[in-house]
Parts: sequence; structure tokens; C-alpha cells
Amino acid sequence: MSRPIATIPPATHPVDARAPAAQPITAVAWDGGAAVIIDQRQLPDTLVHWRLSTVDAVVDAIRTLAVRGAPAIGIAGAYGVVTGLLALGDVARATALTELERLALRIGTARPTAVNLATAVARVTRAASATSGDAPAMAAGALAEARAIHDQDRASCESIGRHGLGMLGDARRLLTHCNTGRLATGGDGTALAIVYAAHAAGRLDEVLVDETRPLLQGARLTAWELARAGVPHRVLVDGAAGLAMVRGMVDAVVVGCDRVAANGDTANKVGTYGLAVLAARHHIPFLVAGPLTSFDPSTPDGAGIVVEERAADEVRGFGGAATTPVGAPVWNPAFDVTPAELITAFVTDAGILRPPFGPAIAIAAGGPGRG
Ligand code: MRU
Repeated sequence: MSRPIATIPPATHPVDARAPAAQPITAVAWDGGAAVIIDQRQLPDTLVHWRLSTVDAVVDAIRTLAVRGAPAIGIAGAYGVVTGLLALGDVARATALTELERLALRIGTARPTAVNLATAVARVTRAASATSGDAPAMAAGALAEARAIHDQDRASCESIGRHGLGMLGDARRLLTHCNTGRLATGGDGTALAIVYAAHAAGRLDEVLVDETRPLLQGARLTAWELARAGVPHRVLVDGAAGLAMVRGMVDAVVVGCDRVAANGDTANKVGTYGLAVLAARHHIPFLVAGPLTSFDPSTPDGAGIVVEERAADEVRGFGGAATTPVGAPVWNPAFDVTPAELITAFVTDAGILRPPFGPAIAIAAGGPGRG
């Protein structure tokens, strides 16, 4: 049954984050014609899954961060194109091709910063166009590609975890920002895949989890995920990261990425840049984890990355409570860009990339025009 994403019902499945995991976390799944997502807006209070039966629902879910995290929105967007094609029914190929272009534009631009969304949508669009036949045949071609993107991301997470574990050395106390785990990807995550790998290997003492203002992806989502997995962690306010470093509580910082430019400049959740400056000040390794699908060699450097700016109300209040005076003027960039020189290494699915990043990225991710 189709359930519109816009009308969220009252809590139906309360979840105790302290309870052991009852089921694996699946941020996005394909189920008979539509993507099914966990509504991340409602975590950690309530675990609700939504079936995104229309393109409107897909776009709304991506824009409102019901589904979020660079790889996860790529996967959801890819499935969204399939849903849009299926909705066309039996129309002729020429009509389907015109509609496909419109679908791809709408879904692929729902959020601007994470390159995964645009490239995943472009991949399924190409696959659909390359499939001969009418709309249902094109939808089948698009679905095969969307599933491939999903499977590829799952495998990428596994590789990132493995490579990242090798990179950690003796670092047993990690600090992370935002949510880069099972909720954000098709697998175990990027930076959090490294955390999970270290925990499984008995090589993790603690993860410090930045709360990640203003939408609290760290406090709400990462803490929920890590609690379910039994990974030792503590949440701290973003502003406490510096003191944690001064006190020697952090051996390495591990974060994810939304778009890595050709020279290594990296867009990630706002607050990442400040952490990188702090890590450099304290000579702490600053590791950026991400699949090559988050690299964008066609953007030369960070100046070319579009930073999404979101609604003022996200800063003015939370959960119905005001956090500023009514109508306070606000600036709400969702991401910032960390210059490559502050990054110790990238942990990718293809291995570790070290400075100088330009040549390393060109070899690993290919030149302009890839994707
Ligand atoms: O606005 P969000 O929650 O989608 O931002 C997510 C991040 O910034 C993540 O760090 C990034 O997408 C990597 S997720 C593996």
C-alpha cells in the first residue's frame, strides 16, 4: 500500500536503543516497485519504515532527510527513477524517454552537495535509455542498474572497513562527526565501517560522537546505531571536541564525505572543517572515509562544490522547542569544505589514498567525465 511520506503517523514502533539489535539496520531496500526506507527524522524515538511509492515521496524523503547520507541518497534516488518509470505504465518508448529526462533532473537535484545522488541517478538513467523497448523494459534495465549500485555500495563499505582497520594502527579512541554508518549507506558505512571493524577486531576502546548540530545526526543516529551494535561510545557537544583533544582523549578523527574534489578538498557535514583544524593543531590523524562514488574528479577543488543551505527553522528550534528568539536571522549551511592539506589520508574502497592527493585521486577515481 502506498503511504505518503508527507504525513507521518504517531509513533507505532517504539525502540529502546539500549536493547540488543532485533534486526539489521537497512537504510534503503527495494520491495516490489518501491524503495522502503527507515524514516531517520524520527530516530531515535521511533523506528518507522516508509514505502516511497511515488517520485514525489522519493524527492520529499531525500529533501527532508528521512533518508540521508551520501551513498544512501544515491541508492534511494536510483530506485526512485525506477519507481517513476514503472508509474508510466505501458507508454511508448519516445514518451518514456522524455519522462525519464524529467525524472532524472527532479530526483538527481533533490540535494546538491553529495555527488553520489547525481551520479547514481545518471547511471540508472543511462541504463534505462540503453535498454531497448517500452517503459516497462526500460524500468527493468534501470532496476538492474539500481540494484548494482546498491550491491556495489555494500561491498565498498566492507572494503573501507578493512582498509581503515589497517590504517588505524594503535589508534583505539576515535572521534567522529555526523552519521556515516548503516543508516547512511547500503552496508556498514564509511567512517563507521572502520569503527565496526575495529570493534570486531577488539581494537576499539571508545568512539566520541559529535552531536552534530543542528539536526543531531551524531546524537540521534550514530549513538542509536552504535548502541544497537554494542560499540562503546559517548556523545559530546560539537564544541567539546577541542577539549577532548587537549586532554588526549582522541587518537584519530574519522569522518565521511559527500563530495571529494580532484585535489582532495572535501565537503562533509558542517563542523568537519573545524575538527580538521583542531586535529592538525593537536597532531592527530584526520581520516576521511568514503567510496570512490563520493569522489568528483570533474570538480577541480573545493571552491567548485555547491554547499547546500537549508531552512532557517532547522536552527531556530528542535523537536518543537525554540532554540533562538522567534524569527532570529539564521545562516544554515549543511556542509563545509575541508582543504586537502588538513587531511591525513582517504580510506576508500580501492585502498588508502595519501598526499599528494591530486595524482592519487586521478589514478583511483579517474579524470573529468567519469561517472
Ligand atoms: O545531511 P546529511 O545527514 O545527509 O549529511 C551526511 C554527511 O555529511 C555524511 O558524513 C556523508 O554523507 C557521508 S555518509 C557515509
